[in-house]
Order: sequence, then C-alpha cells, then structure tokens
Amino acid sequence: MLTSREIRRQFLDFFEQKQHRIVESAPVVAHGDPTLMFINAGMNQFKDVFLGTGTRDYSRAVDTQKCIRVSGKHNDLEEVGYDTYHHTFFEMLGNWSFGDYYKREAIDWSWELLTGVWKLDPERIHATVYRTDDEAYDMWKDHLPESRIHRFDEKDNFWEMGATGPCGPCSELHYDRTPDKNGASLVNADDPRVIEIWNLVFMQYNRLENGDLQSLSTTHVDTGMGFERITAVLQGVNSNYDTDVFQPIISRIAKLSGKSYSSETNDEASVAMRVMADHVRTLAFAIADGAIPGNTGQGYVLRRVLRRASRYARNIGFTTPVLCDLVAILVESMGDVFPEIAEQQHTIERIVKAEEESFLLTLENGLKRIEEMIEAEGQISGANAFLLYDTFGFPFDLTALIARERGIEVDEEGFNEHMQAQKERSRSAQKDQLPGTNRNLHASRTPRNSDSAYRGTGDG
Ligand code: ALA
Repeated sequence: MLTSREIRRQFLDFFEQKQHRIVESAPVVAHGDPTLMFINAGMNQFKDVFLGTGTRDYSRAVDTQKCIRVSGKHNDLEEVGYDTYHHTFFEMLGNWSFGDYYKREAIDWSWELLTGVWKLDPERIHATVYRTDDEAYDMWKDHLPESRIHRFDEKDNFWEMGATGPCGPCSELHYDRTPDKNGASLVNADDPRVIEIWNLVFMQYNRLENGDLQSLSTTHVDTGMGFERITAVLQGVNSNYDTDVFQPIISRIAKLSGKSYSSETNDEASVAMRVMADHVRTLAFAIADGAIPGNTGQGYVLRRVLRRASRYARNIGFTTPVLCDLVAILVESMGDVFPEIAEQQHTIERIVKAEEESFLLTLENGLKRIEEMIEAEGQISGANAFLLYDTFGFPFDLTALIARERGIEVDEEGFNEHMQAQKERSRSAQKDQLPGTNRNLHASRTPRNSDSAYRGTGDG
C-alpha cells in the first residue's frame, strides 16, 4: 500500500517529469491579500500571474499547498466531523500552466496519473465539464464513455477564488466507490460514495467587483487535488480519517480518552475525535505561519475552531487541555514535509494550551447556561446568544451548533443586533476619550469579545 508520503511525492515527481517546477507551499495565513484570510486554494500564490500583474521565471509549476477553508466563499466547517471527506485544513496538490499548456494536456495528464501511474480502475472515474464546454467534453471522450461525462452549471463547474479574482470553467474528476460502479447519479450529490478528487480549472476571466467577467490576456491551467481524498482512494479506505494522515492522531485521542473510534458511525466519540484531529491541524499550521487566536479576523477564526474542538473534547470527557498534547504527534508525522511545524512546536503547544485553558474556565458554566435557556424557553434568543458570546466566550457558531444538535432555534438576527449595539457602544465610548483627560477611565467597559469580524467571515 502506498503511504501518504509516497503519494505526495509521486504527484510532484509526475509533473516534474513534465517540466513543472516544484515550488513550496505558500504560508497558509494569507499575508498581503485583503480578499482572503487564509489560503483556500493552491492558485492563491499565483493570482498575480493569472491577472497579468506578476511573472515567474517558469511557466509550469507543481506543489502541495496548505489550505484552510473556514471562512469566506469556501467554508467547510459545518461538515467536519460528520462526514468522511471535508476538512478545515487540507493539502491541495496542484499543477499549473501560466499561459503554457491548456485543456488538452491538463486532461490527458490527469488521466495518465490516475489510471497509468496509480492504476485506478478507469471504470470508476467520472468527469464533469461546464455546461457549455464542448471542447473539454470532446477531449474526455478520448478516455471515457459519454455515460461517465457529465455537464453541470456554474455552481459545480465554474470555479472562482472569491467574490473577485481569477476564475473560469472547470472540469472535475470524481471517483465512484459504489460496489457495482453505478454511481453516475451520485456525482455532485454530496454522497461519500462518489467524491470529487481533482478539479481542473481553465482560467479565462477575472471577476470584477461589479460582478462582470473580464477576459484574461491569456489562458492558464489551475488544478487542485484533495490530498487526503486521493490518499483514501489509493489506500482503499472509505474515509479520509482512516488514512495514515489522520490515524496517528485519532489513535492518540482514542488512547487518551479511553474510548474507541469507529469510522462507520457518527457516534459521539467518533465525531469528536474527527473534529479534534481535523481542528488541531488547522491550529498548528496557522499558528506556525504566524496567526494567533484572538478577537478579530484570522485570530477569531482560529478561536472559533479551537472552541469548537474544545467543546467536542469535553463531550468525550476531556476537562483539561488536550489539543495541545496532539501537536507532537502531528509534528512526528508531518514535520519533515512542513518543517515549520517542527520548528515552532513549542510555541504552537504553548499558544493552544493557553487558549484551551482560558476557554475551559467558562465552558462548563456556559454549557450549563445553555441547558437552562433551552429548558426555560425551548429556543435561544438573540439576547441569550449574545450573553453566551460576551460572558462565556461562545462564538455564535458554537451556540448554533449546540442548538442544531438539540433541534432548536437560535435567533441569529437578534444576536447580530446585539453585536451591532455593542459595537456602537464601544465606538461612542472611544469618542468620549478626549485627548488629555482620563475620561476613558469612566467610559463603559470594552466588552471582552468586542470585534469587527465576530463571525470571522470576512473573506470575499
Ligand atoms: N483552484 C481550484 C480549486 O480549488 C483548483 O478547486
């Protein structure tokens, strides 16, 4: 069986042999792009090349890019723990052409790698194309019967980086894991038996702020393959969490908690272990690349992720910090590929531990309060959601998650109104701080969690 390490290497080698330059992953924290908080795709670091505002001394590139999808246009947080193939942090294997090759090579080489090198069963592969892309459709006919080539519209087959930026029609490869290979109707149906493994984007446009599409001066290729997904496929397991990418972390959590893990069920312990194993990766890689949990922007996204993991950990009996104890195992399995997590291991552990400790101080009481609210009102009002946020440090999505699990409503609009009112209070308190006086001492307390991006969804 191929190890994940070998799979990563083989992807890079395959494209290196096709004259691609192997480049480093960019840091996962988006430094310097105001439309992004975290890197959400391999192409982010090449955005300037696509837009024609930057150049490289190579026209073909390949890499594995660290990605985080917890905010903005691409946000997979809610699925994590409950399905087998979404993650907040993942690696995206990608190959690029900058004004060099286009659809023909992108399609043929993806086929060659999957079926020639990795020997995947061709009968299990489906391709999708953008509804009007006859050219890509016809190219796939050289490899696939038409019963396994499907057309989809903008939602599935037109890829955009964010609200603005490079974009274009795309062609995806899906892998059919149904026993009798009859998964055609499950393509793009959010069913784990047929999952997307690779997306080939044919970059052609720039989405402008007014929504218009502007043609790029030349065409490019941008591909992205989910590393954890292809690893699951090649290792013959149905869940990404059963690969050697996640198993060391899951085993450690199982050992520490004394509970057993099942990849087949969504019992409380198994969901919790998946969430913890996923979220600790986001925390470790983001902190290694310079983000820290805090009240605004990227920091608040990390805080939400940590608190979500903390609450799941508490569900399976952890009442003291535990995420910090998982960093070492991550470093053991990935520290050679991404030395930054090994170099910063102690900093990551220290930051995660401090953040866990501070949340655990209020978590217990917050959970008790939620129970009382549910009992008294059968729902969570906006005012109560705000109280949980402001007093117990519960990010809104944590409250919403608990509410959803209990099948009750939480008033998001009401919560937002309270947030807005709080912002106005703190703004007027700041105005009161006249220079040269100490009036600010009497201004109203700056709320603990006051921030401008409290939902952490500032991405484009
Ligand atoms: N940029 C494309 C994606 O993220 C490849 O799916």
